[in-house]
Amino acid sequence: MQKEIGMKRHHEKLSIPLMITALCLGSLLITALWIIVDNGSQLRSQCQGFDRAIITQANTPVGSNIVYSAESKRTLMVTPGIFSTFIKENPFPQKKWDTCAVVGNSGILTNSSCGEMIDSAQFVIRCNLPSLGKGYEKHVGTKTDIVTANPTILVRKYGSLNGPRRPFVESLHIYGKSQLLLPAFAFGFCTALCLKAAYSISDIESPIRPTYFNPDYLRRLSNFWRSRGLHRGLPSTGLVMVNIALEHCANVHVYGFWPFSTHPFELNAVKNHYFDDKTGQWGMHSMPAEFNLLLQLHSQGVLRLHLGNCR
Ligand code: CDP
Repeated sequence: MQKEIGMKRHHEKLSIPLMITALCLGSLLITALWIIVDNGSQLRSQCQGFDRAIITQANTPVGSNIVYSAESKRTLMVTPGIFSTFIKENPFPQKKWDTCAVVGNSGILTNSSCGEMIDSAQFVIRCNLPSLGKGYEKHVGTKTDIVTANPTILVRKYGSLNGPRRPFVESLHIYGKSQLLLPAFAFGFCTALCLKAAYSISDIESPIRPTYFNPDYLRRLSNFWRSRGLHRGLPSTGLVMVNIALEHCANVHVYGFWPFSTHPFELNAVKNHYFDDKTGQWGMHSMPAEFNLLLQLHSQGVLRLHLGNCR
């Protein structure tokens, strides 16, 4: 009897033989690609995430022309006001971390018992203001060094920050003194929202430090993987963060990346998020292809993808 496993988003299914064929074909492509990548040296030299992934006062002076990452015709000249919200220097000290954990939001983390292992990493990266605590600690941990925030969350969950901003700033306390990484220059609508988030944090004096993705880095990264076979869509936040980790960490451990509806080993249903019931809206991203890429990087020993239970 042929078992079925959810492979494509949450509404499409692929049988195991089909999945294996797809993965094999993809693997041929991406194995070849990673050989071209040459263990990250091309990633470093072509994308320069080490000192360019994040906007700083050093790499983006007043008067620079920012070109938006998802709207290449939109530009913005850096004024002294905007410049004052940039962090001064590269937030990554000139050292490489030994072990980093990049935590995606897939429901595969539910009951995974991966919390301790995630928190044991020297540097922990989380995506899109995920829930922490509330009983999730055993499975996802609590430590955070970088957390990203998608502007659509600021719109949906915090009313575009048009009302009182304290609830938003207080909700960030669970991430401690981490860095809040915002895509302020992806689409035009992101800029005012992300600046409002940054101003709210400085007005209410929260320990979290707002920073912005450098759109120039996001464009380079997108072109880098596009020229190596990831043709469709823009890299997801999770994939961007894995790439940043690959430039900064000797050992990259990846958790919570499983954009499919069935557990790979236990075959039970898997939610899109470990903390809510929202289904995936991945119009701009090519999630099965991204997952395939992660799988290949895992089999090459470039990173360690955790899908099972950590017990
Ligand atoms: O909203 P967005 O697609 O950017 O991401 P998210 O749902 O907040 O999850 C953060 C990241 O985890 C995504 O960008 C994906 O890379 C990864 N993810 C995954 O691989 N599988 C899932 N079911 C959910 C998220």
